[in-house]
Amino acid sequence: MYSKDLRKHFFNFFHSKGHVRVPSSSLIPDDPSVLLTTAGMQQFKRYYTGELNATDDFGSQRIATIQKCFRTSDIEEVGDKTHLTMFEMMGNFSFGPVGSDDPEDDGKEGYFKRAAIHWGYQFITEVLGIDPDRMHVTVFGGDDETPFDGEAYDIWKDEVGVPEDKILKGVREDNFWGPTGEEGPCGPCTEIYVDGVEVWNIVFNEFYKERGGTYRKAERPGIDTGMGFERLSVMLEGVDNVFESELFRPVMAKIEELAPNMDEAIKRVFADHLRAATFLIADGVVPSNKEAGYILRRLLRRVMAYQVKYDVHANLFEEMVPVIKELFGEIYPEINDSDRIIGVFETEKTKFQEAVSRGLKEMEKIFEENREEKRITGEQAFNLFSTYGFPIELLKEFVEGKQFTLDEEGFQKKVAEHQETSRAGAGNKFGGHGLVLDTGELKAGSEEEMKKTVGLHTATHLLNWALRHELGDEVKQMGSDINPERLRFDFTFDRKLTMEERQKIEDLVNDKINANLPVYMREMPKEEAEQLGAVAFFKHKYPAIVKVYSVGSEASGGVVSREFCGGPHVEYTGQLGSFKITKEEAVSAGIRRIRATIG
Ligand code: SER
Repeated sequence: MYSKDLRKHFFNFFHSKGHVRVPSSSLIPDDPSVLLTTAGMQQFKRYYTGELNATDDFGSQRIATIQKCFRTSDIEEVGDKTHLTMFEMMGNFSFGPVGSDDPEDDGKEGYFKRAAIHWGYQFITEVLGIDPDRMHVTVFGGDDETPFDGEAYDIWKDEVGVPEDKILKGVREDNFWGPTGEEGPCGPCTEIYVDGVEVWNIVFNEFYKERGGTYRKAERPGIDTGMGFERLSVMLEGVDNVFESELFRPVMAKIEELAPNMDEAIKRVFADHLRAATFLIADGVVPSNKEAGYILRRLLRRVMAYQVKYDVHANLFEEMVPVIKELFGEIYPEINDSDRIIGVFETEKTKFQEAVSRGLKEMEKIFEENREEKRITGEQAFNLFSTYGFPIELLKEFVEGKQFTLDEEGFQKKVAEHQETSRAGAGNKFGGHGLVLDTGELKAGSEEEMKKTVGLHTATHLLNWALRHELGDEVKQMGSDINPERLRFDFTFDRKLTMEERQKIEDLVNDKINANLPVYMREMPKEEAEQLGAVAFFKHKYPAIVKVYSVGSEASGGVVSREFCGGPHVEYTGQLGSFKITKEEAVSAGIRRIRATIG
């Protein structure tokens, strides 16, 4: 099934259940507390609280939308197979008060858990034809603040007939939504997974969180659901990733034509950023140094820096905007004003070029001054970067061309110092690709950060061990990424972890930290390491003599973890502080991702 049919089926199905279709709202929300629209429910906040009445405005308490959304949270991940900055979210909503919660009722009154769950299941299995065996669901497991959602659990089990081993209890972070901001409607949610990937989040807005933090029962319980349009499209088309889906294929083809030599990951960054920027501009955002304008500027400057680096001479924006318009113009007429959109792109390009050419002049002076040592200092590089917006990627090209060297460490140190004083949300995320102390595996911005990073590296080994210990030896590392804030670990596993498993894994790691085990390295022939059962990362090629890091010794009660690894690590696990899993999610079918912190 293609995206066009998916849109149609979605609206038809919910229309048959009394829903009225409402257009997507702008990416710029009318709620000043949020920078950009991140969820479908945002335009409806005042209907949940009863301040506005949906029957008066739309003729029904039941609404369905496909909403444009933009999230900066995953911006560093763009380039992999799934993450996007801008995406579309399908959602059905009910604002209450609850009239009938009978799934057979196709009226226009508010509904609640029963109808929302039954319809979710029907849409996935009957309309989309997805085999129920591929599905599992989660419900909120309860904690100190709000209780276990037994009602949703029972509806899935007794009414829909989902087997109990496919109804998992989740933690607050995954199974409780909102409020957006300090107070407002919020509640537990139930998620539908297909092949281990979350496709639908159904929120039961049954609470109102007060400013002081107390939850009271909402007077008008409502429903808010969100289903990732691109994710579902990938699944229904049977393609490997979102960039191969119909929603991106023409965009990727055009980029391929304009820049055949660029890395695949950068092509995806181009596709995502150019599409997102087109939509932002269409909704009235212009590049600037603050708020949404700053987000747009960073998207564009990142693309333009790569454009220079990869020598993409083509008139990128003029070529790309029509392709995006062709794909989405019918659904989102605001992007049809392509002349204006291209105009905004071009103005920003001119500004960027001016900055870069001023930077180039300055850079020539520096090359001249430093012709003896043939080296650019960190301070000089930083000045070029901060005063002229001159991207380091570009500077490196010139340095190489002139056979100079660059004190990149010094440069990154300066960036890190600067960030210390101006840690600002989005800016930090974008500008912060700071690699200072680069040991090969680990990258950090200062001594302090390096210490934290080394600790997270050892924690990664403990996590790798704990996962296999708890879930079985078939769990394989698929990727690992560490920065001073967190570790990120990808591994093979075909479903979401249960609350109990997640807790158990966290506890296992903390036990080993508390035991203050020694961590040490030995070099040995590869065969010997294999015989010892050291865990290798299958994506790496290893030399004949390898380094093996172990945690725990015979004297300390046995070896816990043993891995092929270049280091560095802490000397004793007690140096780590407490370990916490902050997120567990799907990367794609069969691959999970954990983020965790220490300290
Ligand atoms: N607000 C919830 C989400 O964004 C459900 O739509 O996931």
